[in-house]
Amino acid sequence: MNEFSGILSNAARERLGRTEIGEMISLSAKHGAISFGAGEPSPEMFPVEEMSEAIREALREPDVWGYYHDDYGDPSLREWIADRMFRDGLSPSWVSARSILITNGGGEAVNLASGALIDPGAVVLVESPTYTESLLTFRARGAVCVSVPSDDEGIVPEELERIVSYTPARFLYTIPNFQNPSGRTTSAERRVRILDVARRAGIAIVEDDPYHYLSYDGPAPESYLRLAGDDARVIHCSSFSKIVAPGLRVGWMTAPPELEDIFRSLRVSAGLGRPLAIQRGLRRYLDRVDFPGRIERLRSEYRGRRDMMTELCRRYLTPVGVRTNRPGGGFFIWAETPGAREGFSSRDFARRAVERGICVVPGTAFYPSGGGERAFRLSFAKSSGEAMEEGMRRLSRAFADEV
Ligand SMILES: Cc1ncc(COP(=O)(O)O)c(C=O)c1O
Repeated sequence: MNEFSGILSNAARERLGRTEIGEMISLSAKHGAISFGAGEPSPEMFPVEEMSEAIREALREPDVWGYYHDDYGDPSLREWIADRMFRDGLSPSWVSARSILITNGGGEAVNLASGALIDPGAVVLVESPTYTESLLTFRARGAVCVSVPSDDEGIVPEELERIVSYTPARFLYTIPNFQNPSGRTTSAERRVRILDVARRAGIAIVEDDPYHYLSYDGPAPESYLRLAGDDARVIHCSSFSKIVAPGLRVGWMTAPPELEDIFRSLRVSAGLGRPLAIQRGLRRYLDRVDFPGRIERLRSEYRGRRDMMTELCRRYLTPVGVRTNRPGGGFFIWAETPGAREGFSSRDFARRAVERGICVVPGTAFYPSGGGERAFRLSFAKSSGEAMEEGMRRLSRAFADEV
């Protein structure tokens, strides 16, 4: 069966192997492991009854059954989003429902932004570590991903400045809040400096912000989108996946007016619109739910899990030499293993750990070209109670055998 070997695209042949996260999740299922792997919301938080009712009602609207002719998606949902973003201080004055493009999750927003900005061989700057699936998106389009180092306060502006001084890039891709995978948040002060570097270098910023509302110790700093004001160089991507449910596949992009026609064409080329019944159902649900109240409930639940996991890290991982952080929101804790033996590989460690019943994602999954050998990602989103503690015990034992 080699029918395709001579006709595969370069992207398919060279750049589209199986992702590390996908691999770990299937190994986790195979070994029946406790999972700190998947970065997805906890199913108890899905509004199953309310959304089912709302979608049933939407399905009775005649126009949801035909092709829909507004490529940017349902106007009433876009209005809700634009209004929410404005009220929550996320957007500058040029943003209106007209600038909101509904996408197949936030992931598709990143993909469409890539379609507008990447040619094969173009450089994309990514904070590192970064979200694996976006690396795949950029690679599939032929980009060369260049790492910009980050620390506990996010991207290091001096490093960005240094890199743009010799690398002509198209955009900087960043997850500024409660980052996947590191849990870090870029400080307000750094955002101003990073935006200034982007402005001077003439590059765009693709701001991927699906964890914005999941803040546990006070609100997230001001968005790049808002900070940039009338300088519309920021493409903001967000999603209902973490705050309603990922299976709905509804996300959005805030598209600069200058790119409106380009995104309209990209939207059509990526499969016309996105399911209208789901968008209408979501809008009905959002009209009925006390949105701030829902966000508070999510925060309270996940804050509890964050607190429990950070405490368990202190109890089980610190004594064996694993250093962990305390994220201000989101789903992820970043673990570093400075004391591990020479030649330690997070990739091999994760495979041995999953055989011992605990799944984590190795740090190597989150770098475009080397890095993360001494780090791994822990997710607290889907784990609680005794299972979380047992997972930590297993992780601690698995790691203790490595040092
Ligand atoms: C940083 C980041 N961007 C985008 C996504 C994609 O989310 P979705 O496409 O479900 O909105 C995720 C999901 O884990 C993520 O962590």
